[in-house]
Amino acid sequence: MLEIDNLTARHGSLTALSNVSFALEPGKRLGVFGHNGAGKTTLLRCIVGAHVPDQGVVRFQNKPVAAGHVAENVRRGIAFVAQGHNVFPTLSVEQNLRVAGLLFDQTFAKEVLRIFPVLNERRHQRAGSMSGGEQQMLALGMALMTQPKWLLLDEPSTGLAPVIVRNVMRQLFAINQTIGTGLIIVEQNVPATLKIVEHAVILKSAGVVFDGSAETLASKSDLWEWF
Ligand SMILES: Nc1ncnc2c1ncn2[C@@H]1O[C@H](COP(=O)(O)OP(=O)(O)OP(=O)(O)O)[C@@H](O)[C@H]1O
Ligand SMILES: [Mg+2]
Repeated sequence: MLEIDNLTARHGSLTALSNVSFALEPGKRLGVFGHNGAGKTTLLRCIVGAHVPDQGVVRFQNKPVAAGHVAENVRRGIAFVAQGHNVFPTLSVEQNLRVAGLLFDQTFAKEVLRIFPVLNERRHQRAGSMSGGEQQMLALGMALMTQPKWLLLDEPSTGLAPVIVRNVMRQLFAINQTIGTGLIIVEQNVPATLKIVEHAVILKSAGVVFDGSAETLASKSDLWEWF
């Protein structure tokens, strides 16, 4: 179980999250939506322990995540793919995977290369010379090297062509189905995300204004009024 319990987070005098609560069973798929500045990235950063909340707690398997200690939380099974292509541009694809999995089972690289055939074909290519979509897949693969129980993704579709977005979403769904990794996907592309998630949370001005099934949200004709 992953529990976000009454989380309030500030950046100086600005309140980015205010009394945010929701809970997820292991292996679930959640989409987090909301306008710019709604607090989505801050929420992911609190979950992985990169931002220390002012109030409330994130609990993972009944134990609080270590606020301010990302490495510890990653070791426990929470992986975070930040926005942008976070790869080491001068290293090869395979080297990137190995660096990401340095403290974990290196042989899992084989599994990651099987999940992403594109990466396998290019495993000796310099990461910086790959396309945006390929680099996004590598960033995903690097996160998987820690064999996470939860994968947090901050706007994975940014800057990708629609066909690549569909591909990335399909890969995420496949990862969830084959290795059971829970997904928390922050996205501006709501329709593409709703196709693969089961639950949705909408943040507005630091608070939760919707917490329900993806199906319910998708069926709302006034969906866009939430933003
Ligand atoms: N390091 C920081 N210092 C000061 N203010 C910050 C910091 N990080 C975020 N904020 C502010 O906190 C609020 C929430 O930011 P956050 O990045 O969580 O929003 P978001 O929903 O991810 O937005 P976007 O869709 O633009 O990525 C914003 O008003 C932002 O300006
Ligand atoms: Mg953000």
